[in-house]
Amino acid sequence: MSIHIGAEKGQIAPTILLPGDPLRARFFAEHFLSDVVCFNEVRGMLGFTGRHGNKRVSVMGTGMGMPTLSIYVNELVREYDVTTLMRVGTCGALQPELEIGDLILPMTSSTNSQVNRHRFGGLDYAPAADFELLLGAYEAAREREATVHVGGIYSSDTFYDDDPEWWKKWAAYGTLACEMETTALYTLAAKHGARALSILTVSDSLVTRKEASAEVRERGFPLMAEIALSIIP
Ligand code: HPA
Repeated sequence: MSIHIGAEKGQIAPTILLPGDPLRARFFAEHFLSDVVCFNEVRGMLGFTGRHGNKRVSVMGTGMGMPTLSIYVNELVREYDVTTLMRVGTCGALQPELEIGDLILPMTSSTNSQVNRHRFGGLDYAPAADFELLLGAYEAAREREATVHVGGIYSSDTFYDDDPEWWKKWAAYGTLACEMETTALYTLAAKHGARALSILTVSDSLVTRKEASAEVRERGFPLMAEIALSIIP
C-alpha cells in the first residue's frame, strides 16, 4: 500500500478513470465493469478494478482540486505503474456558444496555481493532453453524435473567487471552460511518461449562469465513461 491508497501492488490496472467524486467511481464500477474488486477505501476515496470486455480497467475518485488529485496521481504512477489516466469530470463554460451538457476535451490547461512556477523556477510550463487519447475521444464523441469542443481550459485553485468577473480575461483569449484539476493531471503524466486526458461535461456556465439539471448531470457521466472505455489502449 502507498501512503494514501490501500491497494496491493498489481491490484490497480494500467489504465484508470478518475472522477472527482468517489461515489461516481462506485457508480462506474457497478454499471460498466465486471469482476469488480474494491482496492481503496482510505479517506473514503473509493477505488475499484474490474473488466470491460477483455480489458482490465480501474476507477478511483480524486477529490476536488489539484493538491488532492496530485497526491493520488503521484502514487498511482510511481507505486502502482499506472500508465494511462483519464479524468472524467465537469467544468464551467467560459464561452457563450457552449451549452450545458456539451463535452470539452482540453488540449492544454492554463492555471492560477503556483505549483508549476514553483517546479520550473518561476517559468511557465504548458501542460498538454496525450494526442492519441484526445483524437480517440474526439472520434468516439462524434460517433455518438455528442457536441464536443477541443481547446484550452483553465484549472483554478478557487471555486469561489472574490472577483465575479475573473473569467472574462480568460474567455477573451479563447479559453473554453474552467475546472480545478487538469493542469496538475497533464503535468504529472508528462513528468512520469504516462498518458493523460481529461474528458469534461459542461455542468454550468459563467456566461449565462445556467446550471445543469439533475437529468443532464445523470446523462453526462455515462457518456464520458463510454468514451473513456472505448479508447483504453
Ligand atoms: N468553476 C470551477 N470548477 C468547476 C466549475 C466552475 O464553475 N464547474 C465545474 N467545475
